[in-house]
Amino acid sequence: MGKNTNIVWHEQSLTKEERRKQNGHNSFVIWFTGLSGSGKSTLANAVASKLYHEDVRNYVLDGDNIRHGLNKDLGFSEEDRTENIRRIGEVAKLFVDSGQVVLTAFISPFKADRNLVRDLLQDKEFIEVFVKCPIDTCEERDPKGLYAKARQGIIKDFTGINSPYEEPENPELVIETNSQSIEESVEIVFQYLKQQGLI
Ligand code: ADX
Repeated sequence: MGKNTNIVWHEQSLTKEERRKQNGHNSFVIWFTGLSGSGKSTLANAVASKLYHEDVRNYVLDGDNIRHGLNKDLGFSEEDRTENIRRIGEVAKLFVDSGQVVLTAFISPFKADRNLVRDLLQDKEFIEVFVKCPIDTCEERDPKGLYAKARQGIIKDFTGINSPYEEPENPELVIETNSQSIEESVEIVFQYLKQQGLI
């Protein structure tokens, strides 16, 4: 699908393994998916702080922020969301190659798009975390007032209202933010990483 046919991959002088060795830990993606207002960014940032204090190099990629820069040309049609996730997947892969942990917080409503990112990466490099929260609760929280606008018809194609969200079938983790505290949720993610020998 690429437009550039006359380009040749240039091997880097340092390998992913060498970068990981220098950092003293593995590198992988923690992919948070869920409805708007489900708590993805809050959880991703809380896990990032915990990892930082454990000397695990990491970075958070967040929907609202990435859409201000790299992906500011994209909207919320199905096609644009797919392109949004494709680009994030490629960026996340670069972070993994650089030996770091990357935490992503995007609605990423389509199963096929999330699986495409999984397929870009190697085994144990993609940890899908379903941030599960009933839409009624997300709508009550409505931190940005977007659900209200979607109900009024001001925002079209709003996820959960008039655009679909496909729940993950086999995520590595499910966090229920309406019944688990942030501290508990961070601990679940952290213990999983330990158990898997990732950190
Ligand atoms: S995704 O569907 O392409 O993965 P992404 O996570 O980047 O979405 O961006 C979602 C954020 O954009 C939401 O948290 C919300 O603040 C904002 N937003 C604006 N319009 C919409 C919309 N139509 N549907 C969902 N989120 C929207």
